Amino acid sequence: MINIAIDGPAGAGKSTAAKLAAKELGFIYIDTGALYRSIGVAALRKGYDTTDAEKVNSLLPEISLSLKFVDGEQRVILNGEDVSREIRLPEASMAASNVSAIPEVRAFLLDMQKKLARENNCLMDGRDIGTVILPDAELKIFLTASAEIRADRRYKELIEKGTPKDYGELLSEIKQRDYNDSHRAVAPLKPAEDAYMLDSSDMTLEEVVAKIVSLAKEAEK
Ligand code: DC
Repeated sequence: MINIAIDGPAGAGKSTAAKLAAKELGFIYIDTGALYRSIGVAALRKGYDTTDAEKVNSLLPEISLSLKFVDGEQRVILNGEDVSREIRLPEASMAASNVSAIPEVRAFLLDMQKKLARENNCLMDGRDIGTVILPDAELKIFLTASAEIRADRRYKELIEKGTPKDYGELLSEIKQRDYNDSHRAVAPLKPAEDAYMLDSSDMTLEEVVAKIVSLAKEAEK
């Protein structure tokens, strides 16, 4: 199996680029953020404070998570229910960031991610894929862009969706999530030593996809 790890901060365009690159390569695309988001959603539904590790951990024994692939699109199933839409709600983002700092939550999701990679040629996107989940991946990419560029992309995306939000607010949310994700004690966001650093600030989506595909083809040889 060929495994490609793509890590990087929120909003760097990992999922859009990785999804397109996976399609071109004939690999499955696995979005691991969706798993943390699902646990965040499970906690929010209970009305729990998502920073309260004891509360969140008490939920884990009741959680059954699985991924389904429908026409190449990943769906997340939480206790039999498809939560793929709910996990994209804005409140799920911070909830995911909060629960992802809890060591028990990371341990809970570890085997599932490793197993998916063992069984599939995949392009897996997350924060700790190259460093913790797939340290032996054939290719590791760390995709970044400046916080300002990421906030601007999100700003334009929301205008297109008809749900505009203040640019300054988006920028400060992105910075807060970056800080959370890279300062937690367990598996913080950081590039693997052997990761290829790809800064997408001045690149189009097409250029990013083409670069990922060419790096993957090189790694496959
Ligand atoms: O990629 P995303 O924005 O959907 O991820 C949601 C949160 O989950 C993000 O703030 C960090 C966390 N996460 C993580 O800690 N490790 C991963 N492999 C993927 C996501």
